[in-house]
Amino acid sequence: MNKINKELQILGVVAFFTLFLYWGVEPFAHSQMHKHVEGEGFAYSEFKASGKKGNVENGKVLVTGAGACTGCHGIKAINSPAPMDASMSGASYGVNPPDLSTAGALYNAKFLAELIKNPAHALKVEHKFDPAKGKMHPMAQFYGAGGDMDQEIADMVAFLKSIAPKEMTNKEAYVDACSRCHANRYGKLTQIGETTKFKYKKDELAHQIKVLDYQDSLKKYMGKLPPDLSIIIRARSEHFLETFIENPQSQLVGTSMPAVGLSHEGFEKVIAYLGETGDPSKPARGELGPWVIIFFVVFSGLAFLWKKEKWRGHH
Ligand code: HEC
Ligand code: HEC
Repeated sequence: MNKINKELQILGVVAFFTLFLYWGVEPFAHSQMHKHVEGEGFAYSEFKASGKKGNVENGKVLVTGAGACTGCHGIKAINSPAPMDASMSGASYGVNPPDLSTAGALYNAKFLAELIKNPAHALKVEHKFDPAKGKMHPMAQFYGAGGDMDQEIADMVAFLKSIAPKEMTNKEAYVDACSRCHANRYGKLTQIGETTKFKYKKDELAHQIKVLDYQDSLKKYMGKLPPDLSIIIRARSEHFLETFIENPQSQLVGTSMPAVGLSHEGFEKVIAYLGETGDPSKPARGELGPWVIIFFVVFSGLAFLWKKEKWRGHH
């Protein structure tokens, strides 16, 4: 009896210190090492909605005409090809303007309106681009097509929403939002598209040179090559990723990564894709979890019975 009491006391002490470290010390140390950033769940409260109801037909006329969007962007959904390939775009703008087929779903509507009006402001990169110093953002600002500008912008946003797919895959979301800057080796994606199998070594090398050329343009534009995102999901917490993607400046003051303006749905798809490529065994691990716990419960029960049996009559 005495012995059992002593064992319980030891267990109590071990449990106390474990819990103390876990709840008392670890969160405190963590809060000291990492800045805590509150996100706002991709609500973009700083951008005001104009309240205008967009006209899809007129939006199409503007996007493909006076708005000049198709002068730089491809829109596969309406069979409008990109005016230049990725390499040429990289050389011209520093980065390849993304296809706009999914933009209406991928990005927040208030953000899109702000982006069309003032790209550097919406993307939070005004520290890099200042028209007063002759530093223009490569995406041209829309100055209006002669009518009510807020109405024209609402029309373009309504058009982009109308062509966006009801269901976009996680990969599409990632490619359209992040791929022009970040490679994802595990997803077999470079900044200029998928890495396909080449029949001839010569073609493979030619492709590699294209990727390197594009990366050179990107380095000049961004100041550094954006990191490969294959395993970022394991290196950073989901909270960090959410608040960083919502507003990179909140975690990394002065960074050249833009606030890309994802909608909440767009963010969830992008994160899901990063999970698929960086941690593909997570679902299997999750399924295994309950079985491991059941195993430990049964095993502990058996171990206890075994111990009782062995110690019987030894006191
Ligand atoms: C002069 C070329 C040019 C024109 C015109 C232009 N864009 Fe862009 N756009 C760009 C470039 C370059 C980028 C990529 C900028 C970057 O990643 O830093 C971009 C990025 C975007 C993005 C992605 C931004 C994000 O959140 O990451 C959207 C959406 C977009 N443009 C929509 C439009 C729409 C809508 C129009 C028409 C009103 C338009 N663009 C006109 C060059 C252009
Ligand atoms: C216009 C280019 C551009 C786009 C688009 C872009 N990024 Fe970045 N990203 C960068 C650059 C540049 C850095 C390096 C930042 C630094 O070190 O200052 C970066 C860094 C990051 C980091 C590393 C942060 C860290 O410190 O660990 C993550 C995560 C990230 N980006 C995620 C994304 C995701 C997800 C998307 C798409 C939703 C995206 N980025 C779109 C340019 C971009």
